[in-house]
Amino acid sequence: MRVDVVSIFPEYFAPLELSLIGKARGAGLLDLAVHDLRTWTSDVHRTVDDSPYGGGPGMVMRPEPWAAALDAVARPGSVLVVPSPVGEPFTQADAHELAALDHLIFACGRYEGIDQRVLDDAADRMPVREVSLGDYVLFGGEVAVIVIMEAVTRLLPGVLGNAESLTEESHAAGLLEAPVYTKPAVWRERAVPEVLRSGDHGRIARWRRTESLLRTATRRPDLFAAYPGELLDKKDRAA
Ligand code: ADE
Repeated sequence: MRVDVVSIFPEYFAPLELSLIGKARGAGLLDLAVHDLRTWTSDVHRTVDDSPYGGGPGMVMRPEPWAAALDAVARPGSVLVVPSPVGEPFTQADAHELAALDHLIFACGRYEGIDQRVLDDAADRMPVREVSLGDYVLFGGEVAVIVIMEAVTRLLPGVLGNAESLTEESHAAGLLEAPVYTKPAVWRERAVPEVLRSGDHGRIARWRRTESLLRTATRRPDLFAAYPGELLDKKDRAA
């Protein structure tokens, strides 16, 4: 997968050199380039913003540098992703969709956002997805891109050694994962649940299933309500 990120703060993306994303890049599974939006300005001050039409606080990103940047990095098959608090909620299903694409462009807005015409104009040439990480406001899209790239990169074929962890994990089936434990078996007088040490794989699977349902029902009633009833068996209902 090829990814182009455009931002006025390219330094923000240093963490994408580290850990498993860095490894995926080193292994050639992810080809990621970060570009400074100011490369595409044409005035001496390298201006990227101006005051909003209609008045109001803050500044808006001007269309010209963005249009030049997107023209430069777009290719056939590109999808433009714009993190924004007014976007659609970003979910694990979206991460799967993005992970299946050949080319992503991320446009990182700052200030009050990017002139709407940039997104409208880009939409004539490629799919444009405005996505929000949650109901809060960040300074800009940079941190959101790092989050989205973590969610996407770990789904790329060959990035995670154990593909089974993808099917078992939280949100894979619309439920939160059960609690996890490791050694020692007793720590600060707290014992690991006996069932996990029983070696009885049937009982362990049932325990995890029940814990997963209980966790989801208490912490995320929205997810629990959306969980298809036909996927609940008799033992689930008893729990
Ligand atoms: N940019 C600013 N706030 C954001 C949010 N909540 N999600 C994604 N991008 C953002």
